[in-house]
Amino acid sequence: MGSPPDFRAFRIHNDDAGYRAGIESLRLDELSPGEVVIQTAYSAVNYKDALAGTGKGKILRRFPLNGGIDVAGHVVRSSDPRFKAGDAVLCTGCGLSETRDGGYAEYARLKAEWTIALPAGLSLREAMILGTAGFTAALALLRMRDNRQVPELGPIAVTGATGGVGMLAVAIFSRAGFDTHAISGKPEHAGFLRALGAREVLDRHHLDLGTRALESARFGGAVDSAGGALLAQLLACTQPYGNVASIGLAAGSKLATTVMPFIIRGVSLLGIASAGTARDIREAIWQHLASDWKPAQLDRICTREVDLDGLPTVFEPMLGGHSFGRTLVRIGADA
Ligand SMILES: NC(=O)c1ccc[n+]([C@@H]2O[C@H](COP(=O)([O-])OP(=O)(O)OC[C@H]3O[C@@H](n4cnc5c(N)ncnc54)[C@H](OP(=O)(O)O)[C@@H]3O)[C@@H](O)[C@H]2O)c1
Repeated sequence: MGSPPDFRAFRIHNDDAGYRAGIESLRLDELSPGEVVIQTAYSAVNYKDALAGTGKGKILRRFPLNGGIDVAGHVVRSSDPRFKAGDAVLCTGCGLSETRDGGYAEYARLKAEWTIALPAGLSLREAMILGTAGFTAALALLRMRDNRQVPELGPIAVTGATGGVGMLAVAIFSRAGFDTHAISGKPEHAGFLRALGAREVLDRHHLDLGTRALESARFGGAVDSAGGALLAQLLACTQPYGNVASIGLAAGSKLATTVMPFIIRGVSLLGIASAGTARDIREAIWQHLASDWKPAQLDRICTREVDLDGLPTVFEPMLGGHSFGRTLVRIGADA
């Protein structure tokens, strides 16, 4: 195939005219270099995308770039022999919308090193409902299991449970055999969270986990999108040798804790950084997500679908803490 015609992209600028983002027409040779050219079918909206799209967080490290940290589509051409035209592939993180053009465009040019063949058992649409959020929740599960987290240790507390990472963590950990206790600021969605597998739903506005250095150990472990005081409290409430996976900062980036959970109970605080995960781990996680960890309710978790033009409408509500499930971005044909 020759070069595709000009195509549409949601592009982010920061220059003398200020920080701005919107739809533009681009040519393929204007995209960041890469071996694998794909025609995009879907992307998704993550918290990081909302920060990047509005300029409310320093996500992009160079300008201009196309937004979108997730992308899935079909290969148009590849100079790397691992991929050929027509292959279904995906990429999450790996510098997209940070140092390289991202997935909010009808075409993307990817580094082969970070391109993953769509595993059997997942459609492109399902892969992007999962996206970075599902990948990150699954990375937490992988790291916790590697550090001897077992269901017998007790329930896994999941904060930010109605958000993308939280909802997928509830579904994935439940699927993997763990009891999950969803902690959410939106008690009106308790029934929905139970349907995803949550054994209990706790209202974070009325949750009293205590403030002592060690509290009653009510959780076997935790998957935390909140940070701040909630993360500190979870550490104090975790069973001996349980793991707390720190994923996000929806409540804040500060962590004021004591060493007591670590030195008395052997609790581990695991850092989860999805963007630069090594390729072998990345492939293993996508295999799990396509099989034994695949949530049965992906269609329900996808609560909204927008096209490129609809992107600006979803960013502000997300940054305001109003997320509910995953927003899929439909960009092109998926067959
Ligand atoms: N480490 C990584 O690799 C990685 C990857 C993906 C995301 N993240 C981070 O993980 C977090 C969640 O991302 P996401 O894409 O799932 O975002 P999201 O869909 O917007 O979900 C965030 C959720 O956090 C909860 N929340 C909001 N304000 C809160 C507060 N003040 N205190 C406690 N909880 C609050 C809300 O759930 P409830 O109302 O149900 O409580 C909200 O739905 C973000 O901080 C993001 O940057 C990190």
